[in-house]
This record gives sequence, structure tokens and C-alpha cells, in this order.
Amino acid sequence: MMAASSSRVPSPGWLLAAHCALLLALAGAGAARGHPPALSSTFYDASCPGAHDVVRRVIQDARVSDPRIPASLIRLHFHDCFVNGCDGSLLLDDDLPAIRTEKTVPANNNSARGFPVVDGIKRALEAACPGIVSCADILALAAEISVEISGGPSWRVLLGRRDGTKTNVESANKLPSPFDSLDKLQQKFRNVNLDDTDLVALQGAHTFGKVRCQVTRENCTAGQPEGTLENLDQVTPNVFDNKYYGNLLHGQAQLPSDQVMLSDAAAPATTAPIVHRFASNQKDFFGNFVASMIKMGNISPLTERDGEIRKNCRRVNSKGY
Ligand code: HEM
Ligand SMILES: *[C@@H]1O[C@H](CO)[C@@H](O)[C@H](O)[C@H]1NC(C)=O
Ligand SMILES: *[C@@H]1O[C@H](CO)[C@@H](O)[C@H](O)[C@H]1NC(C)=O
Repeated sequence: MMAASSSRVPSPGWLLAAHCALLLALAGAGAARGHPPALSSTFYDASCPGAHDVVRRVIQDARVSDPRIPASLIRLHFHDCFVNGCDGSLLLDDDLPAIRTEKTVPANNNSARGFPVVDGIKRALEAACPGIVSCADILALAAEISVEISGGPSWRVLLGRRDGTKTNVESANKLPSPFDSLDKLQQKFRNVNLDDTDLVALQGAHTFGKVRCQVTRENCTAGQPEGTLENLDQVTPNVFDNKYYGNLLHGQAQLPSDQVMLSDAAAPATTAPIVHRFASNQKDFFGNFVASMIKMGNISPLTERDGEIRKNCRRVNSKGY
């Protein structure tokens, strides 16, 4: 189900109110049509009240020795949700012939990272409340906490996803590429019910984290070896803020797929005005970023009796597939 709104909301207070109304409306409509219920921000309140704090503590510990971890974790939620919906499929290791990992597709190989931290979160949650919190929800919680502890907005994460029991390598091969045209990026986002505002807002996550020089517009032209890491946001590299959009306005975005939102021939009528808005108003960016993260987190979740709660995020529980 593609839940969440296409309406944009100006302030966090508004966001919550609008969101609650929307959830009620969706729950009613879903029940009438026999759809699974929508996700809920209170899902673990009774079964694992400490979940949010546990995830937060593990991330805080991990980032002491690895400051890049918050950026790496939010990217995992994105790469999970775009492939088969937010079902934890990205976290599965190879278990041939049934399971071919998504971790080695071009968008992930030598790039997606933070998996040991996800394992650490899972271990801590299994100790606190065994068999309750899904790996898919761990990624959603980790994404929000990562943004918040880096100076960005906080929000009430919708929860209740269950874990899938298969991967989808074909779909993972089609994850957005840094060399995609604007049109291609828009198509890939539209396929999962995300519009131009979502595309511009979510790429704002390139306000922190690292990139290998061979996928930047400069393509290692300073003579550095392939794989050399550079900051995605060279102004405030570890802070979640709106400086990324200022970089775009100065032609300084790292990825070709960032810059096309301004430079493509179709940009003036679509994405460019949104880039200008977010560059000049951080609150506007934050409000839209939250709304878009909730929309992304709602991509085809498994709920109720579908899927399972994995014990180990890297493996399905049984071979009953
Ligand atoms: C529009 C489509 C997108 C494309 C083409 C894209 C592409 C990329 C690329 C090529 C990298 C560098 C990878 C590397 O060199 O190892 C990267 C990093 C990153 N991306 Fe995106 N991205 C997109 C959207 C998003 C979204 C929607 C989010 C999150 C909401 C996101 C969050 C990040 C973060 C935080 C990093 C740094 C990760 C780290 O340091 O480990 N990206 N992205
Ligand atoms: C992933 O990267 C490794 C190490 O660079 C390489 O040996 C391997 O062939 C790559 N896998 C795929 C599927 O491209
Ligand atoms: C980057 O430069 C290398 C070496 O010149 C070249 O082989 C490669 O095609 C370039 N990559 C891109 C994406 O332009």
C-alpha cells in the first residue's frame, strides 16, 4: 500500500495532526477493502517500549569510532525501501540457491555499509525484547535517529513492518544511479509513488556522508586513486542541514544526479524551484524531508501475518520458503 500523503505540510505540529487524521482515514479505507492496517508510531509501545532508546544508544556508541555511521544507516533504509518495499531484504546475506544478496549490486557493492551496526542493534533489541522488533523497522528507526543526532529534524517514525523472506536482485540492479538523467530519476521515484518534491527533499540527505571519487562529477581528476572518499557536503560534512542545496546553487554538488535537479533542461519547470526554496529556508526543507521520509517508509510494507520477525537480520528464520 502506498500510504502517507501527497499533501505537504508546513510545520511539525501540523505534520503530526495531519498525519493522525490521515492514518485514521487510511485505517478505515484499508479495513473496508481488506488491506493490511497502516503502520503506527505506537506499534512497540506495549511490546518493546525501550526500542527507540536501544537503537539510539547503539548508534551513538558506534559513531564515536565511525562518524560516518548516521549517513550510512539512512542510506540503508533508502536502498531497502526502494527494492521490494521496506522489508529488510537488503540486509540478507547470500544463502544460495534460495537467497541471492542485494549487497553486491552496483549501487551497494563496496558502498552500502553499516551492516555490523545493524547487527549490534538487533542483538541489543533481542536482549531487551526477543522476537519483537523487525529488521525493516530497525532501519526506519535508525534513519530517524541518525538525522536527529546529526542536527536535523526529529519525527515519530511509523512502525509495524515485518521482514521479508526473499531478496530481489533484479530490482536492486535498478536502484537510482548517480549517472541517471533527471527524467530517469523522476521515473524511478514515481514508480514508488514519490514526486518531484520527494526527490528533491530526499536527495537532501546528501548533506552528510561520503562518496567514492569515481562517482563524483570530478571523477578522481585530482589524481587520487579510485575509492578515495570525499565528503558529499564539503561545507558542513557531518551536519544535517540545508547547505547541500546551497552547494547545488554554486554548481558544487558531488554527484551528477544531484546537479541535474538544477542543470537539466527540464529542471526549471520541475525540480529547480524546489531546490531554491530549500536552499533559502531550512525549516521548509526539514518539514518536507520528514514528510518524504514517512512516504518512503510506507513503500509496500509487510504487516500482520505477512513475513516474519527475523532473529538475525542477515538470515531468514527458517527454510520454509
Ligand atoms: C536520487 C537518487 C539517489 C542517487 C542516484 C544516490 C546516489 C548516491 C551515491 C552514488 C552515493 C555515494 C556512494 C559511494 O560512493 O559509495 C550516495 C551516498 C549517500 N546517499 Fe544517496 N543517492 C540517491 C538518493 C538518496 C536518498 C533518497 C537518501 C536518503 C534519504 C540518500 C542518502 C545517502 C547518504 C546519507 C549517502 C552517504 C552514505 C555514507 O557515507 O555511507 N541518497 N548516494
Ligand atoms: C564487488 O566488489 C568486489 C571487490 O571489489 C569484486 O571483487 C566483485 O566482483 C564485485 N561484485 C560484483 C557483483 O560486482
Ligand atoms: C572516470 O575516469 C576514468 C579514467 O579516465 C574513465 O575510465 C571512466 O570512464 C570515468 N568515469 C566516468 C563515470 O566518467
